[in-house]
Amino acid sequence: MEISTSIIPIRWDDLKQEIVWLDNSQIPWREVYNSTKDLSRLIKAIKSLEIRGAPILGEAGAYGTAMIANNSPNSKSELIKNVKLLGSELAQARPTAVNLSWGVRQVQEVIEKGVASGMSCEEIKEKAIALAKDIQKTNIQATYDIGKNGAKLIHDGDVLVTVCNAGTLACDGLGTSTAPMRVAASKGIEFKVLTTYTAPLYQGARLTAWELHKDNISVQVITDNMAAHLMREEKATAVWTGADRILVNKTKESGTVYNKIGTFGLSLIAKELKMKMYVAAPTSTLDPISTIKSVKIEQRNPEEVSVLLGGTKVVPEGVDVINPAFDMTPPKYVSAIITELGIAKMPYNISLPTLLSNKKSMIKLKSE
Ligand code: MRU
Repeated sequence: MEISTSIIPIRWDDLKQEIVWLDNSQIPWREVYNSTKDLSRLIKAIKSLEIRGAPILGEAGAYGTAMIANNSPNSKSELIKNVKLLGSELAQARPTAVNLSWGVRQVQEVIEKGVASGMSCEEIKEKAIALAKDIQKTNIQATYDIGKNGAKLIHDGDVLVTVCNAGTLACDGLGTSTAPMRVAASKGIEFKVLTTYTAPLYQGARLTAWELHKDNISVQVITDNMAAHLMREEKATAVWTGADRILVNKTKESGTVYNKIGTFGLSLIAKELKMKMYVAAPTSTLDPISTIKSVKIEQRNPEEVSVLLGGTKVVPEGVDVINPAFDMTPPKYVSAIITELGIAKMPYNISLPTLLSNKKSMIKLKSE
């Protein structure tokens, strides 16, 4: 059975020369597409989670940087200045997902190379847009490959637990944690998914449930604090999550996963109940540069916690709240990391650097 999804989370409109995206903050109530040519509007969309999820942030970073170039006057010094300054503003819109700054950097580099090699400004702008489209295509292909690799780990009767949304809305294509589910379902494997609310913004209840239900995959929503109880009672078999950043190096930190707040807790429950903890992510989410000390966990507006989505205030006036958007799961709790290039297992200080160096030699072969 051919699998695909009808959701197009982000794209470049060639006619209007602007970015168009499906507003994640309005799902499941409305399917609204917004668009802009304006960088500050794009940054606002990223900060307010209209555009969200690590791989889509990579695409937004690439399209956004191409848009900055496209809006610049036809002067090479202006082009370089804008892409550098405004690109770094864009890259900082959300700090934890490594893909955003990765996407910005890819397009910045192609523009710098274009200037150095004497291309005209028009040619450089076209090249920047073409690269952003290529990044999107590669991302989409990666989700299909993650799906193929990960589906082998899903079996009849499985009960899978997930957090937040690592589906098409967040990753394009088949999603990351949802890709193996979609491929397994297309092969007739019968399983069900428990998706946690993912307070305070409910990406699990609003977005993952919406996507899986649309695809006729059996899904039930649970609140975050039901996870331990229901994972034991329902005999869950595995936790499947995406990732915003995975550290890769030769130390014990390699394989450390940054993902939506709640992931670490699920990994501890999985360990205690002897279940698998699978993390699905494209290799663009692997970060060979940062360390635990240098990664910034985004702290979001306290009102997301004190005021419910409908506007009801649930925290007494004057009482403080804390709102970290992500957490860090140590590699010892991660059973496997499923990428488009294959499945990495412990020890991650060997398996992940090997995966990355295979990727580098594949890219070299492609350009030879
Ligand atoms: O705050 P969000 O909704 O951008 O958080 C997204 C997640 O944590 C996802 O699980 C993650 O980006 C990995 S998959 C896209």
